[in-house]
Amino acid sequence: MPQPLRIAVTPGDGIGPEVVTEAVHCLERLREKHQLPLEWTRFPWPSHAWHEQNNEVMPADALEQLAHYDAILLGALGDPGPVDDPDRYLLSDSVSLAPLLEMRKGFDQWVCERPARLLPGARQYLADDRARDIDMLVIRENSEGEYVGQGGRLRQGTEHEVATQLEVFTRRGTERIIRYGFEQARLRAETRRAEGRAREFHGHHGQTSESQVCVITKRNALRYWGDMYTEVFEEVARDYPDVATHHELIDAACMKFVQAPWAFDVVVASNLQGDILTDLAAVLSGGMGVAPSCNLNPDNPAMPSMFEPTHGSAPDIAGQGLADPTAMLFTTARMLEWLGRREPALARAGQELFDAVAADLAENGGSQRDTRAIGDSVLARLR
Ligand code: IPM
Ligand code: MN
Repeated sequence: MPQPLRIAVTPGDGIGPEVVTEAVHCLERLREKHQLPLEWTRFPWPSHAWHEQNNEVMPADALEQLAHYDAILLGALGDPGPVDDPDRYLLSDSVSLAPLLEMRKGFDQWVCERPARLLPGARQYLADDRARDIDMLVIRENSEGEYVGQGGRLRQGTEHEVATQLEVFTRRGTERIIRYGFEQARLRAETRRAEGRAREFHGHHGQTSESQVCVITKRNALRYWGDMYTEVFEEVARDYPDVATHHELIDAACMKFVQAPWAFDVVVASNLQGDILTDLAAVLSGGMGVAPSCNLNPDNPAMPSMFEPTHGSAPDIAGQGLADPTAMLFTTARMLEWLGRREPALARAGQELFDAVAADLAENGGSQRDTRAIGDSVLARLR
């Protein structure tokens, strides 16, 4: 057997451990069934529980420890719930969520992929029946922009206080995320063609393409990075004449995501604008319960990528076994597919898991089921 690939499992807070438990059941089943070269270690941090014991949300050398793994499978971080317990151990968001940002930055996970495809069985929030065709991939720039965490507060607490929060955009960071978007557009077109569901997009010169990249900015008001994004987008697009190009301002994009989301294919957005857009995109594809996400470092295999659903710790339902593990399971499927770059058997297992979760959703999506029932139903399909 080849050297096993290693996963750091970090369940986190709230519903995190509940949905991660179902994901691990599926991993166990797939490993046993296909003799997958896969092993994992469960970490009690980052979490509120760890902070309560150790006065820090994760150990100082956490990133060094995680660097020994090939991937990180993370449940959720934040308010551990339940919300009706006023005495629960609570931290400020900036403390409890910091590990997410530290991992993204520390491991240069510069791509955040958030697919939004309305699969059969998922809740269709939009009344228009064309919503059935929603199938987009929002790619969020994950390493810089509005999230660099630079700035400060001057004369804090006084009436002359000044708060600054810097946004930093580099040409290198811009180029790599836009190019990644075009590459994904090509791959998606190939997959659709192979599956007999090719799509058609219209370019500026009347030509048709099987894929599209839409870049999002706010260049009418935030012109410096907006103009740089636009120029880099045009430059990179020249290398992909087969892909249609499009631009939307973030506010108009929000409107069009609701009005005609089926018109989008790949969408590339900055860190904050992508963050906001992907909550909206999650709802368009059935809600937070089904929306996967991953934070990828595509060019340095020595650094682990991190797989966490778009949803948070859901303190309102935590501890009751009510959370929908579907998003976590789709995210786990994506992790296996990602590790499949190193070991093809894992890519096949990822596809198998995706198919099982999608089949379960198609059959039972409308029914009220608890976490365990959904997990067991998926597991039964992996026999
Ligand atoms: C997300 C979350 C995080 C983000 C928060 C928890 C810091 O909203 O993953 O989308 O803003 O990136
Ligand atoms: Mn978010």
